[in-house]
Amino acid sequence: MGDSKDHYKMENKKKEGRYFRIYTQLKELLNKTDDPLARMSSVCAVLHHKMDYYFWTGFYLLKEGKLIVGPYQGPVACQELEKDKGVCWAAVNSKAPMLVADVHAFPGHISCDSRSKSEITLPVFDGKGDVVAVFDVDSDQTGSFTSVDQEELSRIMALIFSTE
Ligand code: SME
Repeated sequence: MGDSKDHYKMENKKKEGRYFRIYTQLKELLNKTDDPLARMSSVCAVLHHKMDYYFWTGFYLLKEGKLIVGPYQGPVACQELEKDKGVCWAAVNSKAPMLVADVHAFPGHISCDSRSKSEITLPVFDGKGDVVAVFDVDSDQTGSFTSVDQEELSRIMALIFSTE
């Protein structure tokens, strides 16, 4: 207690329930079109408004070797991320999610807003299995993201190019 932002820290059990409901909602919503940008926009809007500890929620699109900002919710973000630097590029280059409890401890972290304290990034794969974007969530508290966020967001990212 004592920290006025304590209520932003969500227990894993509560997160699981919340993500389950969000997944169900998104699966139905994203069925209406197969357009990836429309789907990304809806993913951002739903997650950002349903998860209290999300401070910035969005996608960077991999275009001609650059990471350019795509659909997002939250404070104004960097338009383009310096190549091979920071948490987003780390997810793209390793093709794996990155969980960063303290952004200041991550070498090369790119700060678009000084209020961001912890972060999670996940690569987004198209139907052929190529990385075409990265999903990024920032929190204004340290240690906001856990393996539950990683697993549940990976399931949600698989919906972007799903044909089911
Ligand atoms: N922190 C990211 C940059 C994007 S912003 O957080 C919105 C990075 O290090 O790649």
